[in-house]
Amino acid sequence: MGVIEDLRSDPLAFSPGVYVHIPFCEKVCTYCAFSVQVAKSEYVPRYLEAIANEHELRESGSSWSPKTLYIGGGTPSLLDGALLENLVARMRLKDLQEFTVEANPESINDEKLKLYRRAGVTRVSLGVQSFDDNILRFFGRTHDAETAKRAIDLISRQEGIELSIDLIYGAGPEDAWSWEKTLNSLKEVADQVDHISCYALTLEKKTKLSVLSKRAQVSKVVQDDDTLAQRYYYLDEVLQALGFHNYETSNWARDGYESRHNLNYWVRGEYLGLGCSAHSFIAGVRSANVFSMNRYLAKMERREDPTDFQETLSAEQELLEKVLLGLRCSVGVPASDVGEIPPSILKLVHRQGEYITLSKEGRMLADRVALELVTKG
Ligand SMILES: C[S@@+](CC[C@H](N)C(=O)[O-])C[C@H]1O[C@@H](n2cnc3c(N)ncnc32)[C@H](O)[C@@H]1O
Ligand code: SF4
Repeated sequence: MGVIEDLRSDPLAFSPGVYVHIPFCEKVCTYCAFSVQVAKSEYVPRYLEAIANEHELRESGSSWSPKTLYIGGGTPSLLDGALLENLVARMRLKDLQEFTVEANPESINDEKLKLYRRAGVTRVSLGVQSFDDNILRFFGRTHDAETAKRAIDLISRQEGIELSIDLIYGAGPEDAWSWEKTLNSLKEVADQVDHISCYALTLEKKTKLSVLSKRAQVSKVVQDDDTLAQRYYYLDEVLQALGFHNYETSNWARDGYESRHNLNYWVRGEYLGLGCSAHSFIAGVRSANVFSMNRYLAKMERREDPTDFQETLSAEQELLEKVLLGLRCSVGVPASDVGEIPPSILKLVHRQGEYITLSKEGRMLADRVALELVTKG
């Protein structure tokens, strides 16, 4: 049985998951609005100590048995491999089915990968973003396309470690030729890759790109919607031909290499987020930790709860969220959760037995389809 069928018969198959946020980077990229800062070595051991303490504070006793662990950021691969190994050992997670670490091409090496394997890592998610150096410069990345290809080669040689790569499409300076260049490089390395996440560039507040665009120092930050749709469907065509299937709007995998950790988010399983800005969803309550690393450290060092925000959705909000997340991934939405399919969206959905999924045309219109299913169905 495939992963998607597993989740249809048991939506909690990969629940709970644990996410650990590492907020350190070598340099902050122009588009990035995550809780990150340039790494200062004196903060790293303090922060990892705080994470281990938060885990102790929040784990729910002997029955606590997470199935997936995801160490993201930020740039976890900046950390000394032994520090990461030590953190994971302190968390004593026994029955993990999947353990992912995010890495940047310039800070991953053979020695770190060996330590990752010893620590139980099963998957590396590599931030490639583009294979066009011009776009990588626009993003303010510290690697070039050659460095990304070398990192892909290195990771793919590690036995027992799956490789996922991240790409971003639709940046202002990305013309059709530039996207073709990225896709051609993707074809060259495809045999070494198991999974791909690809997001449209979003212009976030308080990023270098938003400042530059306000000052009109960058003429075009993001491509228009039609161009974004063209880039997306062209990528999908290339990836299908290379043997990847689209199992969530922005995620493609070879069979059996889907991210269990992320699928658990999309079917609204439980997860615990540790570290600054990390989100949790436990017993129907969604919460987020304080965004700033300094505030997080101060709270944890005083042994205070670092939660900044908490909410429980109303029944209507919960249904809309369930439908939207379900539609975005190929698990779909149980038809029994919604009424009849309104005629206005018939072309945008498929009926697969007891489930409603998005058609190819519907993939970029999940918000509209979800709203119509919930309000007019
Ligand atoms: C927060 S990053 C962490 C991974 C790693 N540090 C990296 O950058 O390669 C996770 C992913 O989110 C995506 N991302 C972050 N900001 C984005 C934005 N403004 N628009 C689109 N994708 C974004 C990128 O693809 C990135 O790889
Ligand atoms: S995109 Fe990744 S490397 Fe760049 S600042 Fe954000 S977390 Fe750091």
